[in-house]
Amino acid sequence: LRHLTTLENLPRSCIERLLDRALSMRDACAHGTRKLDLLAGRTVLNLFFEPSTRTRTSFELAARRLGADVINFDIGFSSTSKGEELFDTLHTLEAMHLDAIVVRHKVSGTPEELVRHAMSGVSVINAGDGNRAHPTQGLLDVMTIREHRPDFENLAVVICGDIKHSRVARSDVQALTAMGVREIRLCGPAPLMPTQEEFPRCTFVEDFDEAIGGADAAIMLRLQKERMSATELPDEAAYFARYGLDTRRLARAAKGCLVMHPGPINRGVEIASEVADGAQSKILEQVGNGVFVRMAVLGELLGR
Ligand code: CP
Repeated sequence: LRHLTTLENLPRSCIERLLDRALSMRDACAHGTRKLDLLAGRTVLNLFFEPSTRTRTSFELAARRLGADVINFDIGFSSTSKGEELFDTLHTLEAMHLDAIVVRHKVSGTPEELVRHAMSGVSVINAGDGNRAHPTQGLLDVMTIREHRPDFENLAVVICGDIKHSRVARSDVQALTAMGVREIRLCGPAPLMPTQEEFPRCTFVEDFDEAIGGADAAIMLRLQKERMSATELPDEAAYFARYGLDTRRLARAAKGCLVMHPGPINRGVEIASEVADGAQSKILEQVGNGVFVRMAVLGELLGR
């Protein structure tokens, strides 16, 4: 791999290799190795045009743990605010000899544009573009599931919420499909659902009580108000009543159903606190795995 902009068409063998690598990174860190030197002398640029807590911090931590130098580009205090175009910013930063650019942008397809314009030798990693892809989130989600349920061929996974605007849903479906999961159910209010043509492999279920029935993992998504039109925005209390995951609904799922959420969570909107903080919640495990997955991706793309 030279770049990671999407999980589309990434074979299972490649995903498994990255997950195994993430586990090795986790083992090394668990045995007290705080810093590896795999990327010593390399420079990673975090270029985030949209807010982030988990992805940005974990990419920074991952790069530092591998011995790389990290630049967190501050958009608000950069010449972007003086009207500099994205590709002029890119070429300016590249002239400082970068090895990887981790980019998040509201416009779908920006990472591929950067790949087309980037100097040779620079790797581009997508940290989320519009509603299109969030590949490292897809990887950390299947890593988390694999830890508990490696028998993907037996699993029914429900993804519930604002799927239309969700890059996480798209990358999760691609990763779960590659891993051979038995069934993926998509559930949400009609205005927030994508077309079946876009997700031919998935079962669309409008009623969440039905969708979660017997599910082995439930991935809950937040309402992405920043990408919605005024007419798409549901009333939050009504939304929670129909699509929120609470203990009553979780009891309909298979025993031990994994409760997942990419974050940030909105308590009482898509998930009840008692479930988000409950025994079946893997939400903080997902966050922890994110660091190791990002170490694995950086190692794969930049490691000598
Ligand atoms: N899951 C995720 O992308 O979270 P952040 O927006 O905090 O990076």
